[in-house]
This record gives sequence, structure tokens and C-alpha cells, in this order.
Amino acid sequence: MITIQNLSYSYNGPDTSVLKQLHLEIREGEHVALIGPNGCGKTTLIRHLNALLTPQGGSVWVDGMETTDQKHLKEIRRRVGLVFQNPDNQIVGMTVEEDVAFGPENLGLPSAEIRQRVDEALVEVGMEAFAQRAPHTLSGGEKRLVSIAGVLAMTPRYIALDEPTAYLDPAGRQRVLKVIQKLHRRGIAIIHITHDMNDLLDANRLLVMDRGAIALDGAPEAIFSRLDVMQDLGLQLPQVTLLLHRLRESGWEINTNILTIEDASTEISSRMNALKGALDAS
Ligand SMILES: Nc1ncnc2c1ncn2[C@@H]1O[C@H](COP(=O)(O)OP(=O)(O)OP(=O)(O)O)[C@@H](O)[C@H]1O
Ligand SMILES: [Mg+2]
Repeated sequence: MITIQNLSYSYNGPDTSVLKQLHLEIREGEHVALIGPNGCGKTTLIRHLNALLTPQGGSVWVDGMETTDQKHLKEIRRRVGLVFQNPDNQIVGMTVEEDVAFGPENLGLPSAEIRQRVDEALVEVGMEAFAQRAPHTLSGGEKRLVSIAGVLAMTPRYIALDEPTAYLDPAGRQRVLKVIQKLHRRGIAIIHITHDMNDLLDANRLLVMDRGAIALDGAPEAIFSRLDVMQDLGLQLPQVTLLLHRLRESGWEINTNILTIEDASTEISSRMNALKGALDAS
């Protein structure tokens, strides 16, 4: 479990706190989506999960190890993988496989073990055919997948991804989302920062951040029923959920706690059947 207590952080002195006494627990195997307006502190928060930043107030614990404790630093960095917003900032190798090998090499693993981990990680993200390519020749989506493979090769328990689908075309997005789903099924806890509401469909917990604190925390369906709060924060609802809210406003007795097109179409057709039944009977 990752436990965050009273976390405060500021880049420019205490008057400009970016994180404000933030509390959060992330349990093993969860799939958490993290949303919130620009500048609310999402990136700053996840940089605390693997001690890239350390708290100025409060504390962060990863499986019982405090991130300020130097003797645990290596193990914390192994357990919590970060996939940065801009993949170019994460790429270090001359070839894709060198890049993925970077983490396990730093762990000082035997070369046969490194080889195996790199091969497996590249297969896991579907990039094995690119092992010898120079990273700068890859597309944005492919670079993201390589960054994810680099983190995977560390056999992490938690992976935090900072807007991993930003700037990708629909096919690239789907590819990245599928890989994230797969990692979650493997038992890795996922913390996924996004601005795209359609990215949240796989998450079983949604965190809404606002000005350095967690404003809402719960099942996505429950949070999206708080239309007022979401709108106050300037956050959109998934299109499907928005449609159901609109139908409800116009008088339909319809469930709005729905996120997928399939569930929405079932809900709408059952309401239409009920309506038709009522009309037939009258
Ligand atoms: N290195 C830095 N030095 C100074 N201020 C910073 C630095 N990084 C972030 N900030 C400031 O801290 C605040 C929170 O930034 P952060 O990147 O954590 O937000 P975010 O929620 O990830 O935003 P976005 O959705 O735009 O990525 C912002 O006001 C930002 O300008
Ligand atoms: Mg950010």
C-alpha cells in the first residue's frame, strides 16, 4: 500500500503551496484514475510516489518504507514506476532494448536476467519488433510503450502514468489503454493521470484533485453523478454520462450512473420499452 499523510509541497516557498496537507492511500492492485484542472498538482503528487520529490510536510510511505529513508530509495524506485508526461524525457538508450535495460542494469542484475526482463517487457507492450530501433525514430505512441516497458522491466507493484494518452491518435490511444489494462490484470496497481474522460472507463476508483488536495474520491459512476462539483471544477463528464444527464433533465427517469456506450444503450432501450408498454396499455 502507498500511504500519503498530510503531504505538503511548494516549489517557491510556503506561500505558494502546490500540495496542501494531502491524504491518500493507494492499495495494491487498484486501478485509479487521477483528474483535475491544469496546475492542481497531479504531476507533483505522483513525483512523490517514488521519491523523485520528497515531502516538505507530512510523509509518503510505500509498502511501509518512508520515501525520505535513503536506505529504501532503490527498493521504492523499483516498486513504483513512473511514466512521465513527455516520453522524450525518459528515453536514455541508443536503441529501444538498451533503453528498457537501463533500469534493471541499475539494479545490478545478472546479464541473463536483464536480457530476459527486457525481452518480456517488450513483448508485454507489443514492441518486440522494435528492439534494435533508435528511440528517436519512434512515433509518440511507440515511445510511450517503450517507456512503459522500461518501467515494467523493474517488476513494479505500482505504475503511475502521467497523461500517457496525450497527443496520441485514436489507434495509439487504444494501444496504450490496452497495455494499461493488461498490466492491471497482472496485478500491478495503476495510477493514471488523464484529461480525457474516456480514459477512465477501466478505472475502479477516481480521484479528483483541486488546488493541491483530493476533492473527490470514489467509484467513477458515483463521482460523475456529482455534475455540479465537476462543473465547478471545469471538468467534463464522459460524453455518454453527459447524454444521460441531459435526458434526465428533459424528464426521462433514467439512471445517470453509467459510463459505457453499451450500458447506456441498454438503459435507454429499457426506458423506451417501458414507455412503449405504458403507451400500449393506455
Ligand atoms: N519545477 C517547478 N518549479 C516551479 N513551479 C512548478 C514546477 N513544477 C510545477 N510547478 C507549479 O506547481 C503547480 C502544480 O503543477 P503540476 O505540474 O503538479 O500540475 P498538474 O496538475 O500536473 O497540471 P497539468 O494538468 O497542467 O499537467 C503549478 O502551478 C505549476 O506551475
Ligand atoms: Mg501534469
